[in-house]
Amino acid sequence: MKKITIAIDGYSSTGKSTIAKQLAKALGYVYVDTGAMYRAITLFAMQNNFVGGAEENIKGLLENLASIKLKFSYNKALGFSEMYLNGENVEKDIRTLEVSKNVSRIAEIQEVREMLVAMQKDMGKEKGIVMDGRDIGTVVFPDAELKVFMTASADKRAYRRYKELLDRGDEVSFEEVLKNVESRDYIDSHREHSPLQKSEDAIEFDNSDMGLEEQFDRMYNFALRIIEKSKKDAN
Ligand code: DC
Repeated sequence: MKKITIAIDGYSSTGKSTIAKQLAKALGYVYVDTGAMYRAITLFAMQNNFVGGAEENIKGLLENLASIKLKFSYNKALGFSEMYLNGENVEKDIRTLEVSKNVSRIAEIQEVREMLVAMQKDMGKEKGIVMDGRDIGTVVFPDAELKVFMTASADKRAYRRYKELLDRGDEVSFEEVLKNVESRDYIDSHREHSPLQKSEDAIEFDNSDMGLEEQFDRMYNFALRIIEKSKKDAN
């Protein structure tokens, strides 16, 4: 079967990774969570006091950037790839609210974006990939056959994220999570380099009032139609 590239972008906590994982599984494609890569660099920067403390040291981070080793390793039991930072599994550590609070700052840095975008383009060379993030349809794979831009109200998104953090045992308030979601939206869409924006040819998908099953059915049908069409075009 002809393979395509699927780019899923959108605001934070719109459920991009849930749908991307489901699609990748159904199509037998590779799933890549690019947010995990920005989060892992952020964790590294926090561990080394380059951000998150009283004084920021972006120069120090940039001097160490080339030595950071990021790797996705597939976990068969979980059914998705986990993020490794310099050989250590950091899948859980990169999902804390502390990392969420610092990640937009790190994602603004051009050198960080250049390094991660190059890695992401390389991962998608063979197609057969579902990648989610903020600049996938605009910068990483502008030629992706299927581009989706996910939205939902800030309240709904913050509530989903709040429940996720509570389920993990993190002590957070709804207001704190909502503030983080809104401030990340703002920084992500107003930054100078590769701001979050809907690619002209992306399908806008608002899932505020949509169940997971309906969302999956719709997306899967989009994908199958495009795969069918590109098969025909190739003949
Ligand atoms: O998808 P996420 O919430 O885990 O992403 C974390 C942050 O990383 C998000 O606030 C913005 C940034 N990001 C980005 O700038 N570009 C991407 N392709 C993916 C994430």
